[in-house]
Amino acid sequence: MLVVPARLHRWPPEVQDLFGRKGPLVLEIGFGDGRFTAELARSRPDWLVLGAEVSAASVLRALRRMRREGLTNVRLYHGQGPFALRNLVPPGALDQVIVNFPDPWPKKRHQERRLLREAFFRRLSTRLKPGGSLLLTTDHEAYFRFALEEAERTGLYRIEVRPPPEAHLRTKYALKWKEAGRTFFHAVFTKLGEDPAPWPPLRRYDVAHALLSGELPQDLALEKTAVRLKEGVAVFLEVARGKEGFYVLTHVEEEDLTQDLLLEVRKSARGVYAGVSRFGSPLITEAVKGAVRALVDRLKARGLEVVQDHT
Ligand SMILES: C[S@@+](CC[C@H](N)C(=O)[O-])C[C@H]1O[C@@H](n2cnc3c(N)ncnc32)[C@H](O)[C@@H]1O
Repeated sequence: MLVVPARLHRWPPEVQDLFGRKGPLVLEIGFGDGRFTAELARSRPDWLVLGAEVSAASVLRALRRMRREGLTNVRLYHGQGPFALRNLVPPGALDQVIVNFPDPWPKKRHQERRLLREAFFRRLSTRLKPGGSLLLTTDHEAYFRFALEEAERTGLYRIEVRPPPEAHLRTKYALKWKEAGRTFFHAVFTKLGEDPAPWPPLRRYDVAHALLSGELPQDLALEKTAVRLKEGVAVFLEVARGKEGFYVLTHVEEEDLTQDLLLEVRKSARGVYAGVSRFGSPLITEAVKGAVRALVDRLKARGLEVVQDHT
């Protein structure tokens, strides 16, 4: 298992279950083509390297690289770094986090998309070991200063600005910016204290459905606008007619997790079933339950009545 499935039986998994053994644990966020990840895993065979990357194409490229090099101490997760930190890393388990050339989001109105914000540093402190650290390397001075200030505000880290280690200047982006003559910035954020707010793994559920009395509607036109949920946002993208009823392609976004899944509205022995389809094995989160509730509301508006509610 080189790629970590999001729906592991247990969150967080034991490090031993993820890697088949124990060892110092490192998380790299945004590994891109994975060349740094591979070099790290090769040079520190005793370390266990978990990588998180949102780009599917990059994960595939990196996966091929790890296979080609026969590296057994790497696990890759396709998704948001903070999601991996929250759900795949046990509290106090991380020795190191590496962030090389994070997306800088230079526009003021996009700054909330930056990874290294105060809330992230606070949450990170719950997953780092005492004395564990985050290593940041970037060519973007404004983001660098921003990250220093955000971490400083937590009071949970010792911050040292140092020259970047050579290995961190051999990533794909480092080489690109070196050629462009850019300057590099590097800082080490060492955990001194821990944020008291708990950050448990995301809550998951086994089911999200309702049974309604009444007839299956002849048609099911749903507006394609964003439905605001307490925990995120859902959009009913498309409705397709099947033999038993309707499939609703639904986009659900919540903190650090985006899913495209199918909801079903179909005949059941006792009326109409509305709920999450198992197709694609979605994670049933609070926001997914919210999306089902929103769908059930649309059916209620057509005169159907809820007789059993598992949303
Ligand atoms: C500028 S590239 C740097 C890639 C690589 N570290 C390097 O130095 O060549 C930033 C990478 O971070 C990934 N990324 C951005 N936000 C992320 C997040 N929240 N979690 C995981 N990866 C992320 C992007 O897909 C992209 O591959």
